[in-house]
Amino acid sequence: MTDSVFVTRLIPDEGLDIIKRNFRTSVWSADMPPSSEEMVARAKRCSALVSLLSDKIDESVIGSLPKLRVIAQYAVGFDNIDVTTATKRGVIVTNTPGVLTETTADLAWALIMAASRRIAEADRYVRAGLWHVAWGPMLMLGIDIYSATLGIVGMGRIGAAVAQRAKGFGMRILYSDTQENDFTRSVEKETGAARTDFASLLRESDIITVHVPLTNETKNMIGAEEFASMKKGAVFVNTSRGAVVDENALVSALSSGRLHAAGLDVFATEPLPSTSPLLRLPNVVLVPHIGSASFATRSKMAVMCAENLVLALRGNRPPNIVNPEVLIHR
Ligand code: NAP
Ligand code: GLV
Ligand code: GLV
Repeated sequence: MTDSVFVTRLIPDEGLDIIKRNFRTSVWSADMPPSSEEMVARAKRCSALVSLLSDKIDESVIGSLPKLRVIAQYAVGFDNIDVTTATKRGVIVTNTPGVLTETTADLAWALIMAASRRIAEADRYVRAGLWHVAWGPMLMLGIDIYSATLGIVGMGRIGAAVAQRAKGFGMRILYSDTQENDFTRSVEKETGAARTDFASLLRESDIITVHVPLTNETKNMIGAEEFASMKKGAVFVNTSRGAVVDENALVSALSSGRLHAAGLDVFATEPLPSTSPLLRLPNVVLVPHIGSASFATRSKMAVMCAENLVLALRGNRPPNIVNPEVLIHR
């Protein structure tokens, strides 16, 4: 009998068609994610789920899906999935690393530039009809990117792609990461990035950009103390996960002038609640979690996600397995 698959949102056809060709497929077609109850009801008889980072796949959801064998995440980050429970129950989890690296690094750079040079604020100023003086010697002054010190927190795939781009801006590049390995050594060689401890990176960088996954260790790793140790007038950019940062502490650092500006693609709560104090601050650029949002990249993610799913359901090892230890028990 053909396996059934539940896809929790419309993903690009390039991937969806592969899944539809191979399995009985049901797609949640609303824009809003299904609730846990809705997900369980729709996926009850399914062997696989295609999940998004906004779907909370916790112990109770996994425990309520007796036929589940595969969770194919349409994202590289998978902090929304209880992987420990999945592994215990023999469920394979896959993700979409690599194909979105350059696109997300581009967005991190867009935020670095927009925050440093006040692009969003200046655009609002022009549109509001406030541009009365032809050329203002003191109008919308920002900070220089060229030759500044860039601090990269987490030198993985995306961190490294951000470092590559920094070469063109003649920057001094510092980074912190958990371990020194062949990958970080090759990035150092190619970009001139220098490894440092987290405290020195915070102290010495003019621009700080975060690229760690959300884990128990990285949750709230940047809070009041960390903002206080940054240079006065530093720029802070986050395209990783909102929960890596204490958002209240960030709001304080932005309103006190400790930070020149911030650029954020990710938030503690998404979508950003209309009550968020961030919405009232002029010196923060806000975008709605669009790091990987290019036409080409979203198609590649869909294909990768679908191919992982097909291989895993057919009993083969998918290339992008997050919990390979699950295969040992088979
Ligand atoms: P990656 O290649 O795994 O890179 C993450 C790096 O962070 C790894 O080198 C990791 O080291 C390091 N790290 C982990 N904990 C750390 C810590 N406490 N301090 C310093 N470094 C630490 O992942 P990636 O593909 O670059 O993606 C990174 C994250 O970006 C994803 O997990 C996701 O949450 C986010 N993301 C967001 C968007 C978006 O749309 N905004 C798009 C793509 C990805 P180890 O390997 O030793 O743990
Ligand atoms: C996006 O945030 C991802 O993790 O792919
Ligand atoms: C600015 O437009 C300049 O010419 O300095």
